[in-house]
Amino acid sequence: MKISVFGLGYVGTVSVGCLAAEGHRVVGVDVNTDKVATLNSGTAPIVEPEIGDLISKSHKLGLLNATTSSVEGIAQTDISFLCVGTPSHNNGSLDLTYLKRVCEDIGAALAQKRTPHTLVFRSTTLPGTTEDVAVPILEKHSGKKVGEGFFVCYNPEFLREGTAVKDYYHPPKIVIGERKQGEGDVLAQIYGGIEAPFVRTSIRAAEMVKYSDNAFHALKVAFGNEIGILCKKLEIDSHEVMDIFCKDTKLNLSKVYLKPGFAFGGSCLPKDLRALSYQAKRHDVETPVLNAIMASNNAHVRGVINKILELGKKRVGFLGMTFKPDTDDLRESPLVEVIETLLGKGFSIKIYDKNVMISRLIGANKRFIEEHIPHLSSLLTDRIDEVVQSSQVVIVGYASPDFLPALKTMSADQLIIDLARIEGRDSLTAAYDGICW
Ligand SMILES: NC(=O)c1ccc[n+]([C@@H]2O[C@H](COP(=O)([O-])OP(=O)(O)OC[C@H]3O[C@@H](n4cnc5c(N)ncnc54)[C@H](O)[C@@H]3O)[C@@H](O)[C@H]2O)c1
Repeated sequence: MKISVFGLGYVGTVSVGCLAAEGHRVVGVDVNTDKVATLNSGTAPIVEPEIGDLISKSHKLGLLNATTSSVEGIAQTDISFLCVGTPSHNNGSLDLTYLKRVCEDIGAALAQKRTPHTLVFRSTTLPGTTEDVAVPILEKHSGKKVGEGFFVCYNPEFLREGTAVKDYYHPPKIVIGERKQGEGDVLAQIYGGIEAPFVRTSIRAAEMVKYSDNAFHALKVAFGNEIGILCKKLEIDSHEVMDIFCKDTKLNLSKVYLKPGFAFGGSCLPKDLRALSYQAKRHDVETPVLNAIMASNNAHVRGVINKILELGKKRVGFLGMTFKPDTDDLRESPLVEVIETLLGKGFSIKIYDKNVMISRLIGANKRFIEEHIPHLSSLLTDRIDEVVQSSQVVIVGYASPDFLPALKTMSADQLIIDLARIEGRDSLTAAYDGICW
């Protein structure tokens, strides 16, 4: 295939080297004349293991060259990878100067081209940038329409400097964001020989994946360091602790707890986080990440309360009251907090929670209910149909197969606020609002 790579920095140079090593004919394009001259001499313009050899071999085979001319880059190829920098402004916002400029250059070059061309955005950009910023510039300067005269995909780059070539051949995943199914086929072909989980999705989701990944990686580093510094103060070997932590691939290093939904609660997580933060404070250790977790959780609970308050509808039903299904434990349930706040503001509340109903009569929680939440106990009913029929708004607190048949009986003038992303939500007649989706 004939491929041009715009931007010969870390990402672009690695793409040039690896694509040419795979046998593609590659043209590197950069505004920096030194980088262009370096590549044209068969040398890599960046320091990175293995890349020098790949570039020198492909250069000798006549598989790669570089130019400062976007017109040449576009005219000589069928597909272009866009790898220009997207640095931060001083206020943290994304500087799109280079991206906009390269789109203007490429747009003008596309205007002179007869055959269709695919543009693959690899620079890290916030969701919406490709479709709302880059595409309009390309259309304006090319005089062509996206999806007709040219095609765009978003393909986030997951390489790490220092192991970039290895990461190219063994990526954690390959993600292709496309406007319409099929538009990314050419890219899928290019990556055909690489074994990795392969995902095709929307352009916006592909853009967001890159930010979720990097935010999580940064969070992991900060978390590990806070545990480490606290361990040092407590004279515990932090690496031993984290080695044990990492052995747990069921709850720690796993999918568990990562799906967006409602706040955490219960008798352990809030209590243990508070104790750990307090211990850190006692030892003069700063743990802003650990301290921020409860604040984030509380903000999430407030978000749900505000959402309900803003509706101005006073009859609210709750399906679920505990912090998760299949328990009667009400300690630190965020749903209890939501219910208590609404009650304080004069809302009329009805609650269905099978486990709490049983527990109120016989369970270990009977005393807790009688002593701590007698005012909520009286709002409980064992008739789910009564809750859904008499409420203007129904809050689904957790996922339970019991709920769907009752929710399906609700009418279009009622609203369901789903905190649990229940199965079968597409079959509902009532208005529907998912908390994080
Ligand atoms: N460096 C990494 O490890 C890494 C990893 C994944 C993703 N990314 C993302 O990839 C993008 C590129 O990162 P980088 O580190 O390779 O950047 P870089 O700053 O090293 O290189 C960018 C290159 O783009 C060139 N350029 C600027 N305007 C141009 C134009 N109009 N036409 C042609 N070339 C132009 C610059 O001269 C420079 O050589 C960024 O969005 C970054 O966030 C970087």
